[in-house]
Amino acid sequence: MEKVPLSEFYMVYGPQALADPSTPEISAVEQLMNEFEYHEEQEGEFIKQYKEIAERSKNPLVKFLLDLIISDEEKHRAAIHAIVSTLEGDLTWTKQEDALQGFGELDEEKENKELLKVTADFIKHEKEGIKDYKKLMKSSKGYYYGVFVLLLQSIIRDSEKHVEILEFLRRRLEKG
Ligand SMILES: [Fe+2]
Ligand SMILES: [Fe+2]
Repeated sequence: MEKVPLSEFYMVYGPQALADPSTPEISAVEQLMNEFEYHEEQEGEFIKQYKEIAERSKNPLVKFLLDLIISDEEKHRAAIHAIVSTLEGDLTWTKQEDALQGFGELDEEKENKELLKVTADFIKHEKEGIKDYKKLMKSSKGYYYGVFVLLLQSIIRDSEKHVEILEFLRRRLEKG
């Protein structure tokens, strides 16, 4: 595992922590949580900055593109926040509202049989979508300074991400 950079160590514990020999050693999980916490903060900071620029910008294309980034950043923050809450709950023996739950239950519930069935369909649709959008990308080349290609590229990456998420779900569900 990567070490926490010095600057982040300072952010969490303050500069006196390094000089103080009584500072308890950070456990691996705590260190991991600190890193995620740092990134959660960073995501929040970026969202703020993106929003400021998006609000100030008068060009609708710039606004549209920045809004796409902002909604992605919000997803990043939500994902990192879920990780932090999960680690925090385990470290402090508390129930964190936003922690990830249900790890052990995936193979128990009956409704999961149904979910497993549609998961396969979803994966198929996502993959077909990727193929179609790749074709469309070729025929959209040259239009509007390449903005169609740019948007299609980002949809394809999202769809690839959806396939990964669905395949994870399918793997977990199949264990049942
Ligand atoms: Fe991000
Ligand atoms: Fe999708």
